[in-house]
Amino acid sequence: MIITIDGPAGAGKSSIARRVASELGFEFLDTGAMYRAVTWGAMQRGLGWDDVEQLVDFAGTVNLVWQDDRIYLDDQDISEEIRTPQVTGNIRYLADPPPIRERMSAQQRRIAVGRDIVTEGRDQGTEVFPDAECKIFLTASPEERARRRQQQLAAAGRVMTVEEILTAQNQRDLEDRMRPVGRLRAASDAIVVQTDGMTPEEVCQEVLRLVRSCLPAH
Ligand code: DC
Repeated sequence: MIITIDGPAGAGKSSIARRVASELGFEFLDTGAMYRAVTWGAMQRGLGWDDVEQLVDFAGTVNLVWQDDRIYLDDQDISEEIRTPQVTGNIRYLADPPPIRERMSAQQRRIAVGRDIVTEGRDQGTEVFPDAECKIFLTASPEERARRRQQQLAAAGRVMTVEEILTAQNQRDLEDRMRPVGRLRAASDAIVVQTDGMTPEEVCQEVLRLVRSCLPAH
């Protein structure tokens, strides 16, 4: 059984998807981590962003493994390294080319074979698993997402204004929505959950309720 959770940056997809997976005894797949990992790898190797052929070649040959909530590139655990703003800023070079997306989508489908899985990203319900049993599109207004991000950063000791966060977030939203293949959008059969004004606990309970209503009756 496959549950997809798509939505824009900062909508809380990862934490909700993780919790839903753990409540239901499903596995969890963070597809953003896969795009981040190949981006980090390309940065480490100093690949040129305008050499698309080389980027496609790199993404096609590198060994990418997702296991137990960790991401490995050529056997190196880079789960922390991929979370920097530098990686975030360069992701479009690896997330835009259709041949790279094809390879990532194929790997995501292979990971899901024979498993109960909650998979989270931008294109999971549209491109990668169009036949998923349950599709959620988790979203919130740009202002609400930026405020939440500010609070997360503040808790980690980083001070940024909501305006600064909003500027970067708008840029990312634009890139995610304009991508030629795999762009951010809700599948026509996805349930849209608009989370403005809800606490993380309320969002989690609501998503769990919706997901349970998709599960086959016991
Ligand atoms: O979910 P995230 O912020 O870690 O994702 C990072 C970037 O990866 C996101 O801005 C776009 C890209 N991405 C994608 O193109 N397709 C996915 N399924 C997941 C992420």
